[in-house]
Amino acid sequence: EVFILPDEKAIGEAIAARIQKVFEANPKSNLGVATGSSPLSTYKALIDLVNAGKLSFKDAHFFMLDEYVGIDENHPERYRNVIMTEIASQVDVDPENVHGPNGNADDLEKAVQEYDNLIKETGGVDLQILGIGSDGHIAFNEPGGSLVSRTHVGVLTKQTREDNARFFDGDLSKVPTHCVTQGLGTIMDARELCLVATGENKAEAVAQLVEGGISALWPATIMQMHPKAAIFIDEAAASKLK
Ligand code: F6R
Repeated sequence: EVFILPDEKAIGEAIAARIQKVFEANPKSNLGVATGSSPLSTYKALIDLVNAGKLSFKDAHFFMLDEYVGIDENHPERYRNVIMTEIASQVDVDPENVHGPNGNADDLEKAVQEYDNLIKETGGVDLQILGIGSDGHIAFNEPGGSLVSRTHVGVLTKQTREDNARFFDGDLSKVPTHCVTQGLGTIMDARELCLVATGENKAEAVAQLVEGGISALWPATIMQMHPKAAIFIDEAAASKLK
């Protein structure tokens, strides 16, 4: 399903309404959260719903998509801190129920496996919010990787590091080089996927996602295989659709 909406606010409200439905059906649902700018309007809409008493995350678990490797625990760009600031601390989820892959573990291979197991043991993700990179990545699954991967340690491409340098004083040398990320196979296990893309910079990735063939060169295209995937985009991000 593709929804072309007027602006970020409309996109955020549409996705928040879907999340509300999931939690109405089962208050113990698990929400998959993403960092970056794309989900911010959704988080704002969710916070409004919680404040209005129309939605509660008190029995929910949040699962993050990814995390930098080796970033200082207190760094504001550490994804766990971003998720706490942007959404978790502003709603009624128990902070203990906010989970992410541990990019600072001594044994990263063990940590990524444990994360995949934790998602399964907690009942899986009911709805996953996603952004998309200008190169078609979702989470930190960069072009050329496996389409069926599980949570793993990854290397960030130059493009993604450049895209994210704005969060590190515009200094590429400060952007971490490695990450831990849910794999495409892990993401595809979520029962529902909602992807947000806005702006001209995402238009090519959106065109590949919607109209291209499934290819590891455009990782998000794997979403075409998902039984319940929706994308929410603005006119600029839709501008390369036929
Ligand atoms: C974030 C993530 C990334 C972003 C993508 C788009 O957890 O996994 O895949 O969703 O890089 O970022 P924004 O939304 O900032 O354009």
